[in-house]
Amino acid sequence: MSASVIELRGVRKTYGTGDTAFEALRGVDLTIGEGEYVAVVGPSGSGKSTLMNLLGCLDVPTAGDYLLAGEDVSGMTETQLAEVRNRRIGFVFQQFHLLASKPAWRNVELPLVYAGVARAERRERAVAALERVGLGDRIDNRPGQMSGGQQQRVAVARALVTEPALVLADEPTGNLDSRSSADVMALLDELNAAGRTVVVITHDLDVAAQAHRNVVIRDGQVVSDLRTDAGLVGAPT
Ligand SMILES: Nc1ncnc2c1ncn2[C@@H]1O[C@H](COP(=O)(O)OP(=O)(O)OP(=O)(O)O)[C@@H](O)[C@H]1O
Ligand SMILES: [Mg+2]
Repeated sequence: MSASVIELRGVRKTYGTGDTAFEALRGVDLTIGEGEYVAVVGPSGSGKSTLMNLLGCLDVPTAGDYLLAGEDVSGMTETQLAEVRNRRIGFVFQQFHLLASKPAWRNVELPLVYAGVARAERRERAVAALERVGLGDRIDNRPGQMSGGQQQRVAVARALVTEPALVLADEPTGNLDSRSSADVMALLDELNAAGRTVVVITHDLDVAAQAHRNVVIRDGQVVSDLRTDAGLVGAPT
């Protein structure tokens, strides 16, 4: 059996307490294996961001377990979670989240600074990651000197530089035009083809269609979980 990168068992998330308590996730079981490419889709308010925050170790479940690469993170403190995030997860956000005053390579090396990697190696790895996303000639450009698509590619390079077990992308094309979206999606495809586990949270059905498995959530529960490779699914059009 191949190792699971993500294993959620009976995960619940409740916001607030008492009369105002709201259960945003109501018993989610989800296993994602190494090398999978999964899209999580669902209507507004269904719990996608809540799930993303849990998967990304930005928050912990109210009940249930989360094993990330075999490590139980459900009961960790904020400091422990920060360490796991940096070590295991590469993030790509809708709003790029790049530091405007820093050149591309400085943005990309940042996770390595937190990981305590020596300076010379950081630069080398940051430049290699930028080359990998096709920005080898832009390493000294600041975000403001690049297009949205290029900025998102810098963010992908930053997500890759630590060689994380999981690349987690939250609406990665939400702020891009269709051409740049296609570039970023092609990049995620390429990463997955190279063996990286990719989870994309999205509203965009074109983005979901590129993944090999679609997990649909509704009212805090998984209501459908289907492989989408090679026409196995007769998805309604
Ligand atoms: N901090 C919070 N306190 C109370 N309720 C919350 C909080 N965050 C989210 N919720 C509620 O939990 C439910 C799920 O929210 P979530 O943000 O996960 O949905 P979503 O699927 O990401 O929606 P969207 O597609 O609009 O981004 C919603 O009903 C929302 O109102
Ligand atoms: Mg959301």
